Amino acid sequence: MQTTLSGQRILLGISGGIAAYKSADLIRRLKERGAEVRVILTEGGSHFITPLTLQALSGNPVSSSLLDPAAEAAMGHIELAKWASCILIAPASADLIARLAHGLANDLLTTCVLASAAPVLVAPAMNQQMYKNSATKHNIATLKERNFHIAGPAAGEQACGDVGPGRMLEPLELVAALEQLQSPRLPALSGKTLLITAGPTREAIDPVRFLSNHSSGKMGFALAEAAVKAGAKVQLVTGPVNLATPAGVERIDVQSAQQMHAAVLQRANAADIFIGCAAVADYRVAEVAGQKMKKTSSNELTLTLVKNPDIIADVAALKYQRPFTVGFAAETENLASYAKDKLQRKKLDLICANDVSKPEQGFHSEDNAITAYWQDGELALPRQPKTALAAAILELITQRIQHQQPLR
Ligand code: C5P
Repeated sequence: MQTTLSGQRILLGISGGIAAYKSADLIRRLKERGAEVRVILTEGGSHFITPLTLQALSGNPVSSSLLDPAAEAAMGHIELAKWASCILIAPASADLIARLAHGLANDLLTTCVLASAAPVLVAPAMNQQMYKNSATKHNIATLKERNFHIAGPAAGEQACGDVGPGRMLEPLELVAALEQLQSPRLPALSGKTLLITAGPTREAIDPVRFLSNHSSGKMGFALAEAAVKAGAKVQLVTGPVNLATPAGVERIDVQSAQQMHAAVLQRANAADIFIGCAAVADYRVAEVAGQKMKKTSSNELTLTLVKNPDIIADVAALKYQRPFTVGFAAETENLASYAKDKLQRKKLDLICANDVSKPEQGFHSEDNAITAYWQDGELALPRQPKTALAAAILELITQRIQHQQPLR
């Protein structure tokens, strides 16, 4: 079954509660939808369901202890935290919620939550009086403030005989809540056309050599994928990269900045939004040699470079049917001032600046962190997988568009 959960890496935390028996079915539902599932079972949870059941259903060893050298050697807690594209805690007991609210790291599950940048969906499950207790209410409010997502609880008859709120949502309801989390609803993008550039460009020196840069194209491809999921029509003009085309995306392959310029300007008028994510070479070789250049006796070789057209500046300068124009600024120093300068100079609507001097983000990395700047504001989006960041950037773009002008 191909869904928004296909390929997602879901870390399922199971804490102590009778609803843990439903978590076994939950794993099956997640796997049916193409998600990979790894389970962390808390000490409390292990009294309600066995690791063997969870291992058999998830197809992966179940992790329980922070201090188990064998388990840590297989997949350490930080690795596990980084592996997850999403953390689902179901059932989440009152005790676990309290520990999360206080930022404790006193078992494997709470430690992984603290160590992960992935979104966390919490499914509370407890006695109705415990749920209504102001301490629990306060803890849940604290989690919401910190951008945890809370699903449920449902009200009804409880295992203890009480009636009231505190029942864990059913597995299929949790699956639906997770799916919603993975594809934020962006009605403003539905049916709109996005034109995106990605990857590096290659500037030929001769038939076998070129000038280029380290861009992997991952950020642009993640944006294209997220935009399609949000209901947009997407054209992706890409330099040479080693990435599969996301489903539903129209891909236009180019090599040089001049080719990218032509491909973009030909389509820009028809686009509602243009995102220039490509690392376009600023200069190209003035005269490309017709044949492979030969080594000479000289110790020096001089290449004369000439400026390439600035693709994004040309799009932003369009007089008619100009798309909302978003740039990227990859910098190794003075991030804010260089980015703001590009925003003004290239007349962009929004610029996403990222610090490529940090090895754990930017070029070739799975993760990225950016700070977005616009005319009178800015927003820092912390380090997270490029896929999650792409969705957050699109959400910001739609907010800025709604604020500025209606989409055509
Ligand atoms: O290279 P630079 O840091 O100026 O890139 C800033 C933004 O301008 C990026 O969005 C990039 O895609 C775009 N750009 C472009 N054409 C160029 C150079 C950069 O569209 N020739």
